[in-house]
Parts: sequence; structure tokens; C-alpha cells
Amino acid sequence: MTAATPLNVEALRKDFPLLTRTVHDRPIVYLDSASSALQPHAVINAMADYYATTHANVHRGVYATAEESTYLFEKTRLVVGRFIGAPEPEHEIVFTKNTTESLNLVAHTWARANLGPNDRILLTEMEHHSNIVPWLMLAEEVGLEVRYIPVEGGGRLDLSDLPSLIDGVKLVGLSAMSNVLGTITPVAEITAVAHDAGAVVVVDGAQLVPHAPVAVTALGADFLAFSAHKMMGPTGLGVLWARRALLDAMPPFMGGGGMILDVKLDSFRAAPPPARFEAGTPPIAEAVGLSAAVDYLSDIGMDRIRAHEFALTNHALARLDEKLGSDCRIFGPPAGDDRGGVISLAYRDIHAHDLAQVLDQFGVCVRPGHHCAKPLMRKLGVQATARASLSLFSDEHDIEVLIEGLVEAGRLFG
Ligand code: ALA
Repeated sequence: MTAATPLNVEALRKDFPLLTRTVHDRPIVYLDSASSALQPHAVINAMADYYATTHANVHRGVYATAEESTYLFEKTRLVVGRFIGAPEPEHEIVFTKNTTESLNLVAHTWARANLGPNDRILLTEMEHHSNIVPWLMLAEEVGLEVRYIPVEGGGRLDLSDLPSLIDGVKLVGLSAMSNVLGTITPVAEITAVAHDAGAVVVVDGAQLVPHAPVAVTALGADFLAFSAHKMMGPTGLGVLWARRALLDAMPPFMGGGGMILDVKLDSFRAAPPPARFEAGTPPIAEAVGLSAAVDYLSDIGMDRIRAHEFALTNHALARLDEKLGSDCRIFGPPAGDDRGGVISLAYRDIHAHDLAQVLDQFGVCVRPGHHCAKPLMRKLGVQATARASLSLFSDEHDIEVLIEGLVEAGRLFG
């Protein structure tokens, strides 16, 4: 990790109105950003201003506010594209509902057009359901073989069999950072092998894009999916980046207004991308919010955010070990460059939901459960974990309150 100017977390916390509230008479300790990040004033205000001053549908009206809405919506495409280093943002950024819809879009369009019976696709055992189920649905429909890169005991991908696993594979789907283990996967390395084998690579960037500098050119992948709500934007808006040549050749996803050049009673002609994939009124205010969120993150600097969360993750892992020792099982790799700020844990044999309920009494927000990654849970030999996930506003005090709550859960549940 290279040196970056440290964040002034105390000042940044003031940007987040939700951090000023209390629950159960305790200040909120928000450790659930992997599920949904909080929004700074800049995002909330941008959306409120938009509704108060500008709102109109996009790509339709010719009056002033309609033109302004269209401008703001299309500007977000450029802002988001530049944020991930897209070579041609105006053509390559598609707006969806969330990461799940972005991945389903690829399964319904590129994959249906290019995969047939007996073709193979390769996923990993650490995928979120959203990067497994769409492929299993497709496999049932067309008769694909689905293979998996295994996860080794330390929570990293075991790439030792990759040369044989990749044989005959036409599509590789993998997460850039596990939402359970925090593992940052070697996307560029896997993509190089996949491309040599003639496969396209679909990356679930939901957890990495909000927390580290990401450039699609460096990843080398063909598709990158992520969500606004995990990067301090609003819910209801997702992004799919794809290479322009791939998008140009893909059939439409959903049919409706906005995605056509012409419609007759017996036929239609689809619009070029990205409009081809954006049927119906899109999430306009949400796009305005995402623009503000990207500006907010960029002004701080993704390298500084990553450095802060890296240091705090290492601190948290060390403190949990120091205070709770072997009673606390942490899943995922040890502190290091390939670990993000997602800390899934089990404490003694207390159920994750019980842990989360006791933590709630301390104002601590964590996510208990299988984290939409049931195959990985089975591999780890647990039904559920309690997951604390960090953000740019997280600090050492948050970790101490987390530990305080875990100790109390130990006292209550034995
Ligand atoms: N995918 C989100 C999570 O991991 C919702 O919590």
C-alpha cells in the first residue's frame, strides 16, 4: 500500500446526516456499507435540488427543464465512465437497477446470443447469488456446463487448476472483491488466462468499485457491474460497463420505450447502445445522485479511501484477535493488499442473528446471515456469519464499540 494523505475522518463524518442519529440511546455505529453505504449531504441535496428545480422525463421533451434533465442524466454516464477509466463512456455505460440486473442483462443478452448446449462457463465459489443464479438459469435453459474456481482455506481463490478449468470455457464470471470474505481477487491475472482461452470475463465490482481505484483497462475484463447504493449514491440504480464492440453486437434486454429506432405492428429496430438496454423511464434523480456521489468520492480520492480502509481493516483484525482471541473466528485472508474492509466473523457458537441483535443494542449495524452466498457458506462450514463492513467514515472507535457488543453477547449467551 503506497502512502496517501490520511483522511480527516472526524471532518468527513459530519458529511453524513445519518451518523448523527442515535438508536437505543447510543450513537449509531454504521458497519454495514457492504450492504448499502450511507449518503453524504452532497448526494441528498443534489437529488432534492433536482426534484425541486429540474425534474422532467429524459430523451423526450424539448422544453427547458426536459433538456436539463437529459443533460444531467447523460452527464452521469460520462462521470461514472471516467471514474472507472472507460475508454468511451458515452457508449459503454448502461444504467440498470442494480448489480444484479447488470449481471442478468449480460446473461440474457450476450450469453443467450453466444452460448449454446455443451458450452462451458467458469465462476468462483465465492460469488454472490447474483453471479451464480442467472448462470444456473441459463444453464438449465440451454444446457451449459458450469464450473467453479475453488476457494482455498485462507479465503483466496485456488488458481492451481485454472489451466484445466479454463479449457473450453466461453465466459468467466467473478467477483473483484468478495462480499463475505473481503478477498480482492486477481481479476487481471484471471482475465489474461481467460482471454488466451477465448473467453469473455464478467466482473462483479459491487464491493470493489466503491472502495478502491478501479480502471477497466487495468482489469482487462469485458463487463463490469456495480451499484450506486454501495458507493454513497441512491438505491435503484446500477451500472454495467462493457466493451463497445460487445455492446454493439448484443441483442436488447427488455423491450419498451426508449430502446428503439422504429416500431411497426410486426417488427422493431433496436436503438444503438446504451439506449438499446435502457427500456422505459430510467432512474433520473438517482443518476443525479450518483454523479454527486462519484464527485464526492473522487474529491476525497479513491487511493486515500483505500489506504484508510486498509489500515482500519488491519487494525480491526488485530484488535479482534487481541481482545477476543480464538473465541472469534474471522473468515477471509489475513490483513494485506488483497483484503478489503469486509469482516465476517463468528463468535463462540453464538448465532449470527443473536450477535447482530446484541450489537444493535450498542447502536452497531452489522449484517447477519448467509450474505446471498450460500455455496460459500457451505464451503466455510457455517450457516451464517455476522459481517462488519467499513467505509471512509469508519474509525477505531467503531471497532471498539463492535468489540464491546461482542463481549456483551458472550456474557449473555455464554
Ligand atoms: N449484496 C449486498 C450484501 O452483501 C446486499 O450485503
